[in-house]
Amino acid sequence: MSTLITNIAELTTNDDPEVLTDAAVVLSGDRFAWVGPAKAAPPADTRVDAAGRAALPGWVDSHTHLVFAGDRTAEFTARMAGKPYTAGGITTTVTATRAATDDDLRATLRRHVAEAVSQGTTCLETKTGYGLTVEDEARAARIAAESVDEVTYLGAHLIPPDTTPESYLDLVSGSMLAAVAPHAQWADVFCETGAFDESQSRSVLTAAAAHGLGLRVHGNQLAPGPGVRLAVELSAASVDHCTYLTESDIDALANSDTVATLLPACDLSTRHPLPNARALLDAGATVALATNCNPGSSYTSSMAFCVATAVLQMRMSVAEAVKAATWGGARALRRETEVGVIRPGARADLHILDAPSATHLAYRPGVPLTWAVWRSGAPVRP
Ligand code: NIG
Repeated sequence: MSTLITNIAELTTNDDPEVLTDAAVVLSGDRFAWVGPAKAAPPADTRVDAAGRAALPGWVDSHTHLVFAGDRTAEFTARMAGKPYTAGGITTTVTATRAATDDDLRATLRRHVAEAVSQGTTCLETKTGYGLTVEDEARAARIAAESVDEVTYLGAHLIPPDTTPESYLDLVSGSMLAAVAPHAQWADVFCETGAFDESQSRSVLTAAAAHGLGLRVHGNQLAPGPGVRLAVELSAASVDHCTYLTESDIDALANSDTVATLLPACDLSTRHPLPNARALLDAGATVALATNCNPGSSYTSSMAFCVATAVLQMRMSVAEAVKAATWGGARALRRETEVGVIRPGARADLHILDAPSATHLAYRPGVPLTWAVWRSGAPVRP
């Protein structure tokens, strides 16, 4: 079964050329079969007229925390009244998540995934990290694997108050890792004052790598720190947040394969400055944009909001922001040959905007612009 989508005014491919005008694509099964000028398009079983709209790869949201229960509206309200964000709020979600049934967690996760997909997100990563016992972390990873493309083990999110750092580190690098690893592709550490220090983070990540997991790091979120340095040293696929960077952090990222994943919705919601995307890009670092959707520091699934913020407030061009939210996220997940790109053979993840150009994502911020979405070749919206 093939579908020709034609009359695309502006098609962002992230391939060569990066943008095509008056374009068409053909989807066949779960892949793109053909991409090119509309006037040269081959026939297909069905035809969709995009009527002069813009199209781009589905968003790749490479950083979320969607296996959770409970609500932190009160914490958000206190923050907006001036109370600072601290990692300690994570324990509120840990308590609620441990008390939830599998079906509750599954339903909440599916609801958020559906919400993201309806806005054009077609590839999602999510993390454990609100269980923090062997059973609860393994359950979170198992449930996550049912609904998302990539699962990250984040047992090293916080040292639970009812344990000592030594015993918890043993657990995170020992039996908890062994229980979660079969359901996960990645391991992550919250490397920050109040969570895990540099040597604790290194030991958890080294153990995870020995189990065959790829590495990611939460770093430099609340203050300057060792997270970026450590991520680069261990060849992590990405270091996420990057809100407080020194020149040497930027230099290290620019000379590495580690993606700087920026989470602007989180910085806004926690009242921290926005990251210096311009310095990263100008230095040659690879940048991704992601939502960090979670109930504490960033409760949004809107990649379009992140793109608009990146353009309006972080001095990224529309092209840079769209690329960071598609190809950049895919690169952060080491999937850039398959998702975040429109070329024959890539997964047929397509997002059509109800606008003639991707510029409208920033020009019309806050306006829902998703017109149609295909995920793995299947229409998921309308
Ligand atoms: O990426 N920084 C650590 N983890 C999450 C926050 C989780 C929470 O506050 O519940 C983040 O912002």
